[in-house]
Amino acid sequence: MVFIFLQKMELIPTSFLLWPFVLFVIRTSAQENVCARPELTANIEMDGLQRYFNPGAELWLSCKRGYTSVLGPRKIVCGDSGQWTKTKLMCIPKRCPPPDPLSNGELYYEDVVFQSTINYTCNEGYILTGNSMAVCLADGTWSTRVPKCKPLTCGLAPIPQFGMIIYDKRIRGNTTVYSLGGTYRCLPPYVLFGNVRAECTINGNWTETPECRVVTCPPPGNIDNGYMSGDVKKDYDFKETVKYGCNGDYVLDGSLEIVCQGNGNWSEKPSCKGPCHVGIQRARILYRGRKVWIKDLRPNKLLHKEIVSVYCKDKARNCGYAVQTQCFDGELQIPECFEQPSRADYDHHLSSLPSEITQC
Ligand SMILES: *[C@@H]1O[C@H](CO)[C@@H](O)[C@H](O)[C@H]1NC(C)=O
Ligand SMILES: *[C@@H]1O[C@H](CO)[C@@H](O)[C@H](O)[C@H]1NC(C)=O
Ligand SMILES: *[C@@H]1O[C@H](CO)[C@@H](O)[C@H](O)[C@H]1NC(C)=O
Ligand SMILES: *[C@@H]1O[C@H](CO)[C@@H](O)[C@H](O)[C@H]1NC(C)=O
Repeated sequence: MVFIFLQKMELIPTSFLLWPFVLFVIRTSAQENVCARPELTANIEMDGLQRYFNPGAELWLSCKRGYTSVLGPRKIVCGDSGQWTKTKLMCIPKRCPPPDPLSNGELYYEDVVFQSTINYTCNEGYILTGNSMAVCLADGTWSTRVPKCKPLTCGLAPIPQFGMIIYDKRIRGNTTVYSLGGTYRCLPPYVLFGNVRAECTINGNWTETPECRVVTCPPPGNIDNGYMSGDVKKDYDFKETVKYGCNGDYVLDGSLEIVCQGNGNWSEKPSCKGPCHVGIQRARILYRGRKVWIKDLRPNKLLHKEIVSVYCKDKARNCGYAVQTQCFDGELQIPECFEQPSRADYDHHLSSLPSEITQC
């Protein structure tokens, strides 16, 4: 091989650039027993950049930073045959001590060797002070100490003017712990506007403070056909009540009493509903469980919601039957089946009226 190569070289003797290459080839090929720079396995290193070593040359292997050597030997020697002596040297990453636990928190790590990381987090309601991450350093120590998880606190809850707070639990001093709750109250006659419930939040402050405001309602005014009881005042306090009544034959519909509400409005007022006139001239009716001739109904007046029955006739079966109707605020509908008898029938044939014949 070498000879062939040299012969080829003679063909282009002026090529200076190739000379070092040729020398190199001669050296490696002619002295086949030199050792090439050893191929090092992971994390093992050696000094210098030398590429070829003569037999007898010694090399010291070492571990990269952060790694420790196991087995050996660390020294290899170039043998006469151009082979390095064998070594079982391995470099394994340094180990950091197992991390201390974090009270009120969690730590996450996969390993505790060089370059491993530990992540620290605190449980809800705790805040981390210190570093949230540690790295295992080349010297086998953690980069930072274990952080601390301190409970989150708020100060005392702000209290609205004319108000107070009742904490869910007894508190000590003037700090409160995260998630503690409380209920706001306003001193009467003040009314609470905003959130009734309060809580020490994760931000270390309390939820929004409500306001205690005075609420008044204007005079509610009278109702038609009725009256308001009590003194008329310029304004009324929250929860103050006013009663109503109706005049004469009017009947109260709705609640007797209204109340001044937190929004400054009154609850719904009642109304007075009027009586009804039974618009029939000739007939007998059923009223309050008794049969009454209409002329005997004195006064001819039903109160709101009162019920009266008129008589109708089933002509096919020749029998009579009562049909109910109800007075509603001055209106009384006479059932359609009702037929007013003629004056002659009414005067002379009373016994033929639907109210007098056999009932169906
Ligand atoms: C620690 O947190 C970092 C950044 O959030 C993340 O990349 C890494 O995977 C975490 N390590 C572990 C062991 O949870
Ligand atoms: C807590 O209360 C004490 C005494 O009552 C007071 O000296 C201190 O300033 C208060 N601290 C806070 C943060 O309000
Ligand atoms: C509480 O603190 C957070 C963060 O500082 C802020 O965004 C929030 O508005 C505060 N809440 C109240 C009720 O002051
Ligand atoms: C009070 O009543 C008035 C009239 O009915 C109504 O327009 C208004 O919205 C009410 N106010 C509140 C706070 O509900």
